[in-house]
Amino acid sequence: MAATHTIGIDLGGTNIKGGVCDADLRLVAQHAIPTEAERGVEHVLTRMAGLVDELRRRANLRRDEIAGVGVGAPGPMSHAEGIIHSAPNLPGWVKVPLRDRLTRLTTMTVVLENDANAAAFGEYAAGAGQGVRDMVMLTLGTGIGGGIVLDGKLWRGRFDNAGEIGHMVIVPDGRPCPCGQRGCLERYASANAVAERLREAVQAGESSVLQALVTAGTPFDARDVVAALERGDRLAARIWDETCAYLALSVVNIQHLLNPELVVFAGGLINAGARLLDPIGRHFERLSWKIAPDAPRIAFATLGTDAGTIGAAALARGG
Ligand code: BGC
Repeated sequence: MAATHTIGIDLGGTNIKGGVCDADLRLVAQHAIPTEAERGVEHVLTRMAGLVDELRRRANLRRDEIAGVGVGAPGPMSHAEGIIHSAPNLPGWVKVPLRDRLTRLTTMTVVLENDANAAAFGEYAAGAGQGVRDMVMLTLGTGIGGGIVLDGKLWRGRFDNAGEIGHMVIVPDGRPCPCGQRGCLERYASANAVAERLREAVQAGESSVLQALVTAGTPFDARDVVAALERGDRLAARIWDETCAYLALSVVNIQHLLNPELVVFAGGLINAGARLLDPIGRHFERLSWKIAPDAPRIAFATLGTDAGTIGAAALARGG
């Protein structure tokens, strides 16, 4: 029988998500396991290979029915060589030849892609970007990833790292980033950065309903910041509004660089719903030019956390 299905793997700092897709990109099986990143690269690679096997069994498919495995992984990488250069949010992941290692472990054809590229391609093929030729997606999670689809094709650039939108510099000489630069968008508007900025403001003397958590050193995240602003917390409201302004500013820059029809936001932060989308829209309106009718539509991803696996499965067919 012909190889009809592909497997998509989405490698994250906390979980490894996987899915099996049929030729129409319908998910026929799914499974996720903890990454256990603290146990090192080799351990994670072995877990990924185990997940591939588990997915195939869950989908009730023989090995020869799987055309290939697509892996979306965080960090700048060489898609052509299948090597992760360095993942800013996965400690120790430096120069990892993921494609070849996983090919050996699974004896299947493996394609390596940036996680946000894979998710963007997923949304293009089966989500918010259906019917659109040119779109850009930003994933707002632990880090900020980006993916560019131009004329229906994923745009990787000469060195495979086009769309590293989280590392566009939004504040000159701003907050340091693990990538080595300063002022990266990711250091202001990722889910982590939002909580971190509020924590720092409280430590610098500003008051907030989250003060007790800051003083006790209790971890909190962007969800708590949104909950605080809903309770009328002025600091949380300011930090959140600034976050939306940074994101709107990046949409303005993306508009002028690529003139896409659609800019999609994805990732944990979009759970804030209209609290995120409306102020981004307002700031975009305020910050963008009015001399040409070329503003992109700004929308949320529709595939939720499945975009990465569906996109990786789609890319395993070539994309
Ligand atoms: C990395 C990107 C990745 C994003 C989301 C960023 O720090 O540089 O490659 O797509 O995090 O994981």
